[in-house]
Amino acid sequence: MAFCAQSKLSNLNLWIKTSVGSSSSDNVGGHHDSLRRRAPKIRAKSRMMVKMTASTSGSSGQGSSTVAFEEGQLERPRWTGETPLSRLVGALISFRPLFSIMKFGARQVLISTAEKTNIPWREMTRQILESDVYKEMGSIEDPSLVYPDYYLNPFHAYDEGNLSWLAAAEAEAATMSMMRRAIPYASSLDEANQVVRGNWLNAIEEHHQKYSEDNIVRQILDIGCSVGVSTRCLADKFPNARVTGLDLSPYFLAVAQYKEKKSSPRMNPICWVHANGESTGLPSKSSDILSIAYVFHECPERAIKNMVREAFRLLRPGGTFAITDNSPKSKILQASSLLRFLFSAYSLCD
Ligand SMILES: C[S@@+](CC[C@H](N)C(=O)[O-])C[C@H]1O[C@@H](n2cnc3c(N)ncnc32)[C@H](O)[C@@H]1O
Repeated sequence: MAFCAQSKLSNLNLWIKTSVGSSSSDNVGGHHDSLRRRAPKIRAKSRMMVKMTASTSGSSGQGSSTVAFEEGQLERPRWTGETPLSRLVGALISFRPLFSIMKFGARQVLISTAEKTNIPWREMTRQILESDVYKEMGSIEDPSLVYPDYYLNPFHAYDEGNLSWLAAAEAEAATMSMMRRAIPYASSLDEANQVVRGNWLNAIEEHHQKYSEDNIVRQILDIGCSVGVSTRCLADKFPNARVTGLDLSPYFLAVAQYKEKKSSPRMNPICWVHANGESTGLPSKSSDILSIAYVFHECPERAIKNMVREAFRLLRPGGTFAITDNSPKSKILQASSLLRFLFSAYSLCD
């Protein structure tokens, strides 16, 4: 595993889905019961499948159609890697006063573009910031957690990266905006969501039905759950499963928990865990489905490798591992403006 896409603007989901061989029935208690137990390393024999899923023209996504997505002409966008443009971007970013102005401009562009497509960015943000969300922090945060160094960098144009209330309050609008940009032909946000999330959920379900031994989904883990959008999709799709959303940002998790409390109660309430996906402390072989969605493009390679290793440890035999992220080869990504890129994806990727 050594890919590291650098922006949030693609229309492609890349899937690497793994069914782990040999059966075992231990650990049915799963991560809800024993959040901080360490487990010995396991070597999983695995069958690995790589599949591209992308948008289909105007469909609802419920049919889970798998089609070739449109590739751009480059291996990756011009502003990444070792190109003159990427060096220029690096130089601009490192000159702080200039970068602050560019960051401000990029942010305004992003917000107004979102609002033009009926995503009420500022109103959604205001509602969270003026709510009681702050009260959730006490029950979410693990004060002993040590953050990896990359996570302490400024990111997405927030000086505190994901460790701030503003980043948490804006995350859902930003996610909506990403969906909208990923499926430019969609006539509404709902349609874009159905294509992206619908394809994703259907692919997970189909794969699990095909390769799991008993086809039962008891536990689902969503690593890098942010404010819980992907976690809620998984919980809606698999209502009988116990779903856990895990993230490094206690601010994002506080928003996730707050929003979930405001929604209709579920038969199996979602559990939110503040932990590092590289070393979760959750029990081995406890997840039937483990998802990592739109996380790796934000992480350096060493963190990606650790998360994949950890995922294999957490997967139950016959379990499904779903990775989805943006492709640097996407035509949409390659055509995206530098300004958006600056807001979306500066820093990282060693
Ligand atoms: C773009 S968001 C994910 C969005 C979400 N999965 C979805 O599909 O809507 C990326 C998330 O990964 C989290 N993250 C990054 N590194 C992490 C790590 N080592 N462990 C856990 N979460 C991490 C960030 O805090 C952020 O919330």
